[in-house]
Amino acid sequence: MRYLIEGGRKLSGTVPISGSKNAVLPILAATIITGKKTVLHNCPDISDVRCTVDILKYLGYHVSMDADTITVDTGFDASPRVPSQLMGKLRSSIIFLGAFINRFGSAQISYPGGCELGKRPIDIHLSILSQMGVQIHEDITGINCKAPSLKGGEYRLNFPSVGATENVMIASLIADGPVIIKNPAKEPEIVDLQNFLNKAGACINGAGTDCITVTPTNTFSDCEYSVCSDRIEAATYLSAAAATGSTITLTNAPVSDLGKTVNILEKMGVIVMPHSQTVLTVTAPNHLKPVDMIATMPHPGFPTDAQAILMAALLRAAGTSMIVENIFENRYNHVEELKKMGAQITVSGNTARVYGVKELHGARVRARDLRAGAALVIAALSAEGKTLIDDVYHIERGYENMILKLRSLGAKAEILPSAEQSATLLRHS
Ligand code: UD1
Repeated sequence: MRYLIEGGRKLSGTVPISGSKNAVLPILAATIITGKKTVLHNCPDISDVRCTVDILKYLGYHVSMDADTITVDTGFDASPRVPSQLMGKLRSSIIFLGAFINRFGSAQISYPGGCELGKRPIDIHLSILSQMGVQIHEDITGINCKAPSLKGGEYRLNFPSVGATENVMIASLIADGPVIIKNPAKEPEIVDLQNFLNKAGACINGAGTDCITVTPTNTFSDCEYSVCSDRIEAATYLSAAAATGSTITLTNAPVSDLGKTVNILEKMGVIVMPHSQTVLTVTAPNHLKPVDMIATMPHPGFPTDAQAILMAALLRAAGTSMIVENIFENRYNHVEELKKMGAQITVSGNTARVYGVKELHGARVRARDLRAGAALVIAALSAEGKTLIDDVYHIERGYENMILKLRSLGAKAEILPSAEQSATLLRHS
């Protein structure tokens, strides 16, 4: 599929933010360890969630989806294997590793997929699990793990990897004593995983700080939980408003998780007015100011997932902005595509310089990864003329109803079949 966007219009109105992709994916994997019925609310209807549901169904578990609620029943045995076609569809499939080790004491999985943002190794996951006593055998087809038992104790991540922190939290619940995780990731999605596991019966403390303590348990109960809202989707609509000089209101938004993104938008001259913990209004001027420096960092630093999105808003700022990408080595996939729309950007190593231009123009561009695609949508909204974005399946991995939401804000945007789909339709007409 493709998106066709006619830019140059202001947005107005209210947009609801969906549940968080990066929170719901590890929570869905973690439902395996409870062996109970879990009802999850505020789940986004995106393709990464549907892939994760497919994995749970492949394993033999009962899963049903009704609007934003997903019900998973893991109260029976299944096999700890996921075929490579399913594993390779998304990065967060790696969290099934910790869940399998917990539930089955073994795991056989192939390597995870996800956006091409660089090497994305899993050495930190495997290093901590191996220190805890998991026997790991790796070959080109994947990873075989056996965990007769896990040793409690203190473990330190050499980098606060989000996925490794989630895997270790989930696996640690079967250790023979308390597990202390030092230098964990502190992202809000880690806190959400802790909150979910505790609601299901676990005792985990410290998520969001420099030290997480897991007290092992194998006693869980049925549980109903509402996933947190998506801070990156919220950042995307804030940036869309900034890029188009608009005033819009976000509802169901994770207001307290938007700190660094809001700080940058305020430096650009945007006014962000929270009304409550979940509602905020953003008002952007017609001319944005450039920003000296945006450096992506682990939370609570500026999120790498919002880098492309903010860059798109800075394209028409009155001056030069500098962006440094510190988390992924290959996260400037959007730059060459944005240049097709008239953007002036230079990249040297992990540093991008964005030279604000008076006007962007529509072009035919390609979404090369999820957030790169979102950046193209934002640029298209602020450009003169029509932009055709190919390969939007990347965008649909992480954004629920993006085109519908933008249309409800007054954007001129539509979904078209891909070139191949159009050709097939023509052949059959
Ligand atoms: C998660 C998010 C992703 C976000 C990223 C950083 C999900 C599904 N995805 O990805 O949207 O951009 O956090 O906030 O939650 N690394 C290693 N070895 C490892 C693990 C990671 O070197 O074993 C490196 C990665 O290559 C990357 C950095 O650490 O350079 C951050 O990765 P990590 O925090 O693990 O990100 P993900 O969990 O993959």
